[in-house]
Amino acid sequence: MIDDATLAGWENDIERMSPPIVKPDMSPWLCSWPDSSKQGQGFPRRFWKKWCETYRINPMLHLFCGSSTEGDVRIDIRKDSGANIVGDFLAVQREILRQGPYKSAFADPPYTQEFANEWGVICPRPSSILHIMREAVVANGIIGILHLQVLRPIRGLQVVAWHPVF
Ligand SMILES: C[S@@+](CC[C@H](N)C(=O)[O-])C[C@H]1O[C@@H](n2cnc3c(N)ncnc32)[C@H](O)[C@@H]1O
Repeated sequence: MIDDATLAGWENDIERMSPPIVKPDMSPWLCSWPDSSKQGQGFPRRFWKKWCETYRINPMLHLFCGSSTEGDVRIDIRKDSGANIVGDFLAVQREILRQGPYKSAFADPPYTQEFANEWGVICPRPSSILHIMREAVVANGIIGILHLQVLRPIRGLQVVAWHPVF
C-alpha cells in the first residue's frame, strides 16, 4: 500500500518532469476578403496586422511573400515580388539558413495545385515548408502558416494556435 506522502511526492515529480500542456488557441480571426489589389491570392485584408500583433517577433523570415515587403528575409519564386531572395523555397534553403537564425517565420504558400498553377509551380508540401521554418527559427521561436488544410505539427514543433480565418 502506498502512503499519501509517497503518492504526493510522485505527483510532484510527474508535474516537474512533464512538459507544460498548452491548450491551443482556437479563436477565429475575422479578416474579411482577400486583398488582391497588389497580386493574386493576397492576404485576407486584416490578416497580416493580426499575425504581426499576435505572433511576429523580429527578425522574421517570410516564405512565399508575394507582393509583401515585410520580413527581414523574404522568399518568392517570382522576380516581380517583394522578395529579397528570389527562387524556389527548397532551392534557396541554404541561403535562408545562412541569413538566420530568425525569431519567427511565416509562410503563405499556394494551398492546392489549382492555386499553384497560377504561378506555374508544383504545389509545395506543407511538411517541407514546416521543416525549413523549423530549421531556421530559434528554439521557442514562432512559426506560422496560412493554409486551408489543418496541418499536423512535425516533430519538434508544438501547436500553440489554430485560428480559423474568415
Ligand atoms: C498565396 S501567394 C502569396 C501572397 C502574399 N501573401 C501576398 O499577400 O501578396 C503565394 C506565393 O508563393 C509564390 N510561390 C509559389 N511557389 C513557390 C515556390 N516553390 N518557392 C517560392 N515561392 C513560391 C508565388 O509566386 C506567390 O507569390
